Amino acid sequence: MGHFMVDYRYLAQKYGTPLYIYDFDHIKTQYNRLKEAFRGRKSLICYAIKANSNLSVIKTLVNEGAGCDCVSIGEVKRALICGAKPYKIIFSGVGKSDDEIREAIKLDILMINVESEAELDRVEEIAKELSTKARISVRVNPNIDPKTHPYISTGLHANKFGVDEDSAKRIYIKAKNSDHLEPIGIHFHIGSQLTKLDPIKEASTKVANLVRALKALDIDIKFFDVGGGLGIDYNGEKLIEPYDYAQAILGTLSGLDLTIMCEPGRFIVGNSGVFLTKVLYEKINTDKRFVIVDGAMNDLIRPSLYNAYHKIELLSEARGEATQASIVGPVCESGDFFAKDIAFPPTKHDDLIIIKSAGAYGFTMSSNYNTRARVAEVAIENGNDRLIRRRDTFEDMIANEIDLLEE
Ligand code: LLP
Repeated sequence: MGHFMVDYRYLAQKYGTPLYIYDFDHIKTQYNRLKEAFRGRKSLICYAIKANSNLSVIKTLVNEGAGCDCVSIGEVKRALICGAKPYKIIFSGVGKSDDEIREAIKLDILMINVESEAELDRVEEIAKELSTKARISVRVNPNIDPKTHPYISTGLHANKFGVDEDSAKRIYIKAKNSDHLEPIGIHFHIGSQLTKLDPIKEASTKVANLVRALKALDIDIKFFDVGGGLGIDYNGEKLIEPYDYAQAILGTLSGLDLTIMCEPGRFIVGNSGVFLTKVLYEKINTDKRFVIVDGAMNDLIRPSLYNAYHKIELLSEARGEATQASIVGPVCESGDFFAKDIAFPPTKHDDLIIIKSAGAYGFTMSSNYNTRARVAEVAIENGNDRLIRRRDTFEDMIANEIDLLEE
């Protein structure tokens, strides 16, 4: 979170728990740090909505000047509702449906990022139906190991994302020769939670060379999209500085006049958010200590899904020595944990626990599993708090079924 103290007790009382809390000032700071790093160059930072798609979060970034990186037509619509200009919206994803492609073309967004030749053919077909020309970019898979968690690494040929450089070239030529396609961008994204510059540099070099080859074929690429993936501090990682990131990329683009785009998600919202949960009980099974809290894997699945580390703090006066404990939720699965066997102080019923770095891929990956209400979200901005998402009610959770019940 940002630099002022957050009164978690007050927020817990006012909004209940579990609860996501976001520092909007920090969100803006992160966006502007990155934007600044590209100062003097044409750049467009497209916030990756998937990381945190709360409308108020999107709107805050749109108001700062951000574009939006979307991976479904639903996300495109979220961006538009928040006032994003269509010419600042891009649409990526390895499998877009015909309906999504049709709608994206009709909405006149900046470009559709195509991830296969088959998809290019669909986009062309649909643009033809609509008697128009669709602006596209191609996602290149530069076959580079980003040195991050295998689940979130995407830039190797073994991954399902993008196309290799030779195929990309073929696709661009096909697009150039089509009456219904206009290739204007190129894209790559090698993975998430990146903490090393070299793989980014290497990928950028490869893709920049491809751009040079395309220019020689009279294919005029205008947008150079380096994807997202900038890592954040979960556990004291050494991070890439935005300035170094920008310099590394710019260094590969000599002689090219391009608008540089990137698609940060986690970098902007990850450390702007915490997940606040309350202790229900402690128990000891034989010799294993469990702290059972009111939040669960359905609210924040990263520990269960990726074995991801999130720093956890108990908000209470010291009550005694820390001993080993697992912090777990009430869901009926052994995988429902926030931390396993960490040193944790003694807790009491109703103590508050803060799970840090939860602003990215927290709420957006939450579900109603176990018919648990998806939680409320609160923004803090200029020292004031406000609700930006109501907690689900039971009625919300059954709304799409209740009237379909047969007698
Ligand atoms: N652009 C593309 C094409 C992407 O696939 C992604 C993330 C991003 C941008 C934004 O990446 P970021 O800047 O946030 O790292 N659920 C996982 C992360 C999945 C990332 C998927 N793609 C997690 O919780 O770690």
